[in-house]
Amino acid sequence: MTAGTGFGTDATGGLAGVPERPVFDVCGPLPDGTTVLEASAGTGKTFTIAALATRFVAEGRAELRELMLVTFGRAATSELRDRVRERLVSAERALRGPDPATSDDPVVALLADVDAAELDRRRARLAAALSQLDAATITTTHGFCQQMLTSLGIAADVDPAATFVADVADLVREVSDDLYVRRFSDEAHPALTPSMAADLGRAAVSDHQAVVEPAEPGGGAPSSPGALRRAVAQETRDETLRRKRAQHLLDYDDLLVMLRDALADPVHGPVAAERVRSRFRVVMVDEFQDTDPVQWEILRTAFHGHRTLVLIGDPKQAIYAFRGADVVAYLDAQQDATAVATLGTSWRSDEPLLRALDTLLGGAALGDERIVVRPVDAAHRGSRFDGGAPLRLRQVTRAALGMS
Ligand SMILES: Nc1ncnc2c1ncn2[C@@H]1O[C@H](COP(=O)(O)OP(=O)(O)OP(=O)(O)O)[C@@H](O)[C@H]1O
Ligand SMILES: [Mg+2]
Repeated sequence: MTAGTGFGTDATGGLAGVPERPVFDVCGPLPDGTTVLEASAGTGKTFTIAALATRFVAEGRAELRELMLVTFGRAATSELRDRVRERLVSAERALRGPDPATSDDPVVALLADVDAAELDRRRARLAAALSQLDAATITTTHGFCQQMLTSLGIAADVDPAATFVADVADLVREVSDDLYVRRFSDEAHPALTPSMAADLGRAAVSDHQAVVEPAEPGGGAPSSPGALRRAVAQETRDETLRRKRAQHLLDYDDLLVMLRDALADPVHGPVAAERVRSRFRVVMVDEFQDTDPVQWEILRTAFHGHRTLVLIGDPKQAIYAFRGADVVAYLDAQQDATAVATLGTSWRSDEPLLRALDTLLGGAALGDERIVVRPVDAAHRGSRFDGGAPLRLRQVTRAALGMS
């Protein structure tokens, strides 16, 4: 399908072997199905979510409380809330003002391009949305999963005595110290210090999905420093899990796995998924590249194929690879999507800088051939700064740093 992709294709035509992407038009038909928008920094990803939210509401596709907007991290959530609020406020004000159909703001002009009765309805829908702003679901992925768990009563079903803990760092440290004493107290020169063991344990626990390598040779006693470190990491992970269960503690990752399993349950899953999706008509995820595979499975089971799902991100900006997100979820979603498009213009960087970056990185595949640096046009044609080269590279060799 081609919803919202009315601005032609991006500028990748010149790059051998890189397929062009349709450019998403925020004033095109509103998306339905599952749309993935992959776009670079400063091309208006968050802007697009705020504009689409305003259109979904004003055009009567959904009330504000029927939209779920998800992003990564609390700071991003509050930025998204502010930007949606500003967009709703400015659209409502513009539609009440003189000649909205000739507005410079293309979204306002589009919304005003209707007969008088529909224009009145659109104003009323926006005014209603402004009075409901606090009821809007604008949250982090964790926040959304927690809300869903509470509404489904899953944590209580699994373990009525369970206590939620936001941070298991103290428990991991305690486990690590106990295991250290058990393993190394008789050794005059232990191969690891207590803090090295604690670091290993923390890394193994915080990334549940990481495979601990190298595999132990023959399952026997550790025979190399690598095998010793592996054993310490694995033991800390296993023992932490055992103590969490014994103490009836649940952390965020446990909740996520429980929710995923509840939705995938062959008997009760469909009813649970229906309950999760019943409140929402449209779900939009900003910073989607930082969604991990478990979170994506939850979103997919709950919404993909059932509700309008818009997933916006820039895999080049993935900050979460170290926790198992590793853009796998992003690539899966791209495969499942009914439409994949991009945003073709940077509103932040000027043209000389963008062209210099193209020369350096254009067409480069970052870790996966499906993640390619694509050129973007510049909204700012000239240099935004006086003088000097748009981009300078400094090469620092290992030898210059005194490293061999
Ligand atoms: N279509 C547009 N028209 C006018 N200004 C825009 C448009 N799109 C984005 N902008 C402006 O460009 C700036 C960058 O936009 P935005 O923050 O939405 O980009 P982003 O892709 O989300 O960036 P990041 O990758 O950092 O999250 C903002 O000031 C925004 O208001
Ligand atoms: Mg953004």
